[in-house]
Amino acid sequence: MLMLLLFSVGLNLASAAKLGVVQTEGGQVEGNSHRMGLFRSVDVFQGVPFADVPGKWEKPKPHPGWNGVLKATKPRDRCLQVTLLQTKTQGSEDCLYLNIFVPQGRTLSSSLPVMVYLFGGAFLLGASNDVAILGDSLYDGKEMADRGGVIVVTVNYRVGTLGFLSTGDARLPGNYGLWDQHAAVTWVRRNIEAFGGNPDNITLFGQSAGAASVSYQMLSPYSKGLFRRAISQCGVALSPWALQSKPMSLTKKIARKVGCQRRDEDEMITCLKMSDPVGLTMAGKIDVLLLLGKGVVMDLMELSPVVDGDFIPDDPSRLFHNAAHFDFMAGVNSMDGHIFAGVDVPSINQKNGNTTAEDVKGLLAGLTKEKGNAAVASAFSAYSSHWGSFPEPAVLKKTVADIETDFLFLVPTQIALQLHADNSSGARTFSYLFNMKTRIPGFPRWVGAEHAEDLQYLFGKPFSTPLVYFPRHRDLSGYMIAYWTNFAKTGDPSRGDSRVPVAWPPFTKHHRPYLTINHKINKSSVSYDLRSDLVSYWTQIYSSLSSGTREEEGK
Ligand SMILES: *[C@@H]1O[C@H](CO)[C@@H](O)[C@H](O)[C@H]1NC(C)=O
Ligand SMILES: *[C@@H]1O[C@H](CO)[C@@H](O)[C@H](O)[C@H]1NC(C)=O
Ligand SMILES: *[C@@H]1O[C@H](CO)[C@@H](O)[C@H](O)[C@H]1NC(C)=O
Ligand SMILES: *[C@@H]1O[C@H](CO)[C@@H](O)[C@H](O)[C@H]1NC(C)=O
Repeated sequence: MLMLLLFSVGLNLASAAKLGVVQTEGGQVEGNSHRMGLFRSVDVFQGVPFADVPGKWEKPKPHPGWNGVLKATKPRDRCLQVTLLQTKTQGSEDCLYLNIFVPQGRTLSSSLPVMVYLFGGAFLLGASNDVAILGDSLYDGKEMADRGGVIVVTVNYRVGTLGFLSTGDARLPGNYGLWDQHAAVTWVRRNIEAFGGNPDNITLFGQSAGAASVSYQMLSPYSKGLFRRAISQCGVALSPWALQSKPMSLTKKIARKVGCQRRDEDEMITCLKMSDPVGLTMAGKIDVLLLLGKGVVMDLMELSPVVDGDFIPDDPSRLFHNAAHFDFMAGVNSMDGHIFAGVDVPSINQKNGNTTAEDVKGLLAGLTKEKGNAAVASAFSAYSSHWGSFPEPAVLKKTVADIETDFLFLVPTQIALQLHADNSSGARTFSYLFNMKTRIPGFPRWVGAEHAEDLQYLFGKPFSTPLVYFPRHRDLSGYMIAYWTNFAKTGDPSRGDSRVPVAWPPFTKHHRPYLTINHKINKSSVSYDLRSDLVSYWTQIYSSLSSGTREEEGK
């Protein structure tokens, strides 16, 4: 008996501390403890409610609370959305839940920095526990929490028709998904201390539509003092796909699809409000068949945030004074635009595909519709100036991907970094380019880092599923976790508890350094003025062209 007792005391000593039942404002929650190593574990709470079941196109409301202990050991439903193949829906309207990952050592953690993650998915798809391929979800926070010494929180928000439909006025102002994110962050601020977090040390981070969301949260006047830092990975509020400027015409299109077409707008809105959420969600799907040679994929990403005069009071480019006090880190992947390019100009991914100068011009025409014909000619000369007289096929193909990367991701990110640095009052700005070669088999040799490929490294997949990665991937993963979590702790990715391979200098009003992130980071990974010739083309020459109509266009 005594032996057994001593033995079990010994076992307890060998394991890390754990939180057990935690008191939140809504009631008690209990998660699971996952062992990560000797005296190291992560307490995981899944499916913690941060708001009540939301009403259709209403702001989130506080959760009424519960009695007893809520078992937070399984993820809850994602918000109602179309499936990846868009043939049906999945998820539920009861979806405002978050997940918390708390690292523990021998003693209970306290006052840890907190990193809140917003998932991507074009404002149409996605969830806080999305994409489980081998084991845990892509966004599982255990490795980041354990290796970086931070609390990771991943949150759900409404997407698609239920998250972003808007009439552009007070009847249906829109931005419901952004309000959900805001409610989640305010919940974290009020409750995270009980989990060992520091409510004054919150960093938001996100990728793609989640990155644009992070940017919107920074620009909103509602966020003053709510968090300290923000990281946008491959998307900002200035990205051309991240703002719907004609929400009413989109709402009418969706109304037609669900049989709510009415001459009177109020009647149409009443009809929409009574419509079945599943039908409404299906009506918001992206119809790729509509493309068939005209237009570009970007045009199909329609359900997005809007200027609502409230959460987003003005055009995002005029709101950077609101973001001046947040430290900001932002970057893109070297071929973020490649998947979009492959839909707009399929020949770029075909082995013997014949991508022509006409294809390049056609793509530019699709992207620059708001300007006249002059834009196509000037953009074409900016992108073909290095071709020489007989460019290799791969040169043309890579140009197509570069154009989409620049237009959809890289240039808007550079503009946001500059506006942030110009407005900053002591807060810091950091810029990066992620260019680890793609791991997706079958892509042409010139493809660099594809959209979303940064996430597997940030969330430590090379450590949690070591068999499908090489040591170089673990090097990269370690570097990213170190830079990101240092930034969350100190506002400077090079300063903090984690060692980094090279100091990453800040981006300022007059100096524009950026860190190139891959598995071989050293002093020469710091460069200046990312793609500055093309950034200045888009920001100076292109933006000064007057908008015009294009003769041959039939739309
Ligand atoms: C600051 O941000 C505003 C938009 O909010 C922008 O117009 C301005 O150029 C920025 N720069 C400075 C120096 O204020
Ligand atoms: C590629 O397309 C161009 C224009 O359509 C054509 O002139 C050329 O012969 C094609 N090349 C090949 C190898 O098919
Ligand atoms: C944020 O966290 C870091 C690391 O734990 C700590 O050094 C810093 O003092 C914290 N900042 C605030 C405002 O609490
Ligand atoms: C940095 O790494 C590159 C390879 O990525 C290498 O060519 C270069 O010599 C290294 N520079 C230093 C200063 O170590």
